[in-house]
Amino acid sequence: MAGVTTDKLPDPGMPEIAFAGRSNVGKSSLINALLQRKSLARTSSTPGKTQTMNFYTVNNEVCLVDLPGYGYAHVKTDFRRSWGPMIERYLRTSANLKAVFLLIDIRRIPNEDDSMMYEWVVNAGFTPIIIVTKSDKVKRSQIKKSVFDIKNALRVTADTEIFIFSAMDRSGREEILDKIEEIAGGKND
Ligand code: GTP
Ligand code: MG
Repeated sequence: MAGVTTDKLPDPGMPEIAFAGRSNVGKSSLINALLQRKSLARTSSTPGKTQTMNFYTVNNEVCLVDLPGYGYAHVKTDFRRSWGPMIERYLRTSANLKAVFLLIDIRRIPNEDDSMMYEWVVNAGFTPIIIVTKSDKVKRSQIKKSVFDIKNALRVTADTEIFIFSAMDRSGREEILDKIEEIAGGKND
């Protein structure tokens, strides 16, 4: 996926795919890994890095939308108040939005913020596609159990797709790219 442009709104009609999840879950890191760019989407060890929606147009084909994260007390202020309406409006009104990935850290049981986000995505008419992030942070033998616990906590439907990803070793990247291409219309590079 070369040909990344940014800092402009997507062309009308361009399919959009959004990435949602708690602050620090790894949304921007995932987008960078997908795009093979080190720091196109700005990442930070400090939660709350991404505070606006960022649109990354890829190959003039699909637009990846990096949503601001939720769940961190210290991003209270005005941003926290405007965050909900901004995200919800986007999810409900974007005519080009084709799918929403919901990212969950493999080490955390989803909390009420995650469940709220899950509900918003469902209410906007999508089945959230789950990406379990930072898989390098647990032992391989622990992955299945963690994924099971995450599915349970979110009470996902049986047809929910789940990807397991690490930005460190990039495992899961190809599968996620395939899914994005399928959603965006099945075009290949
Ligand atoms: P906000 O913009 O605050 O919503 O955060 P974000 O979800 O965009 O998270 P970001 O990509 O900035 O990553 C947060 C931190 O987690 C950074 O220090 C990343 O280096 C680290 N990180 C992200 N993905 C992984 C991963 O797969 N494995 C490990 N070990 N660390 C990761
Ligand atoms: Mg971010």
